[in-house]
Amino acid sequence: MKELLDPDLIQFAEKLQLPEIVVDTKDMPWVPFDEKTCHFKPVRFDFTTGTWTYLFKIKPNQVLTRHRHTGGNVIGFNLKGQWRYAERDWVATPGTFIFEPPGDIHTLITEAEEVITLFTLGGSLQYFDEENQIVGQDDIFSVYKKYCDFYLENGLTMNPNLLGK
Ligand SMILES: [Fe+2]
Repeated sequence: MKELLDPDLIQFAEKLQLPEIVVDTKDMPWVPFDEKTCHFKPVRFDFTTGTWTYLFKIKPNQVLTRHRHTGGNVIGFNLKGQWRYAERDWVATPGTFIFEPPGDIHTLITEAEEVITLFTLGGSLQYFDEENQIVGQDDIFSVYKKYCDFYLENGLTMNPNLLGK
C-alpha cells in the first residue's frame, strides 16, 4: 500500500514549518482590559495578520461599550456564564460558538454571572457613544500594549511563545 505521506516531503516540511505553540493559561494573571469591567489572558498575537486570541473575562451585570468590527476574523467560543448582544435575540451560554462578520455592530451585556469567552479577533474594534461618535479603538497593537504594560509594571516575565515566531 502506498504511504499516505511522503517521508521526504515530511522531512522537507520540517525544515520550514513553524514550531507548535502551547500556552498554559492556568497560572497566567488576568490583565486589565479597561478601567474595571474586563480582563484578558492572551494566548496568541499574530502580527502578520493583525489577529490575536485571548480569554476574555467580563464581570457580571455589565453593559460594554457598543462597538463595530472593521474586518478580519472575529470568532468566539463561550466557556463560562451567559451574555448577549442588545441588538440580537440569542444568548451565548457555555459551548456557544459565535462568528462576528466584518461591519458587525453590537453591545455586549452580561447577566448575573461572570463571563469567560475565548475570542480570536482581527482588524479593529471601534467604540461608539450615544451619538455614534467614535470614542475609542482597540486592535492587536493596543491589546499587546495593555499586556506589555501590565507585565512590565508588575515585574512579570512575558511569554515569547505568544508571538508564535
Ligand atoms: Fe464584538
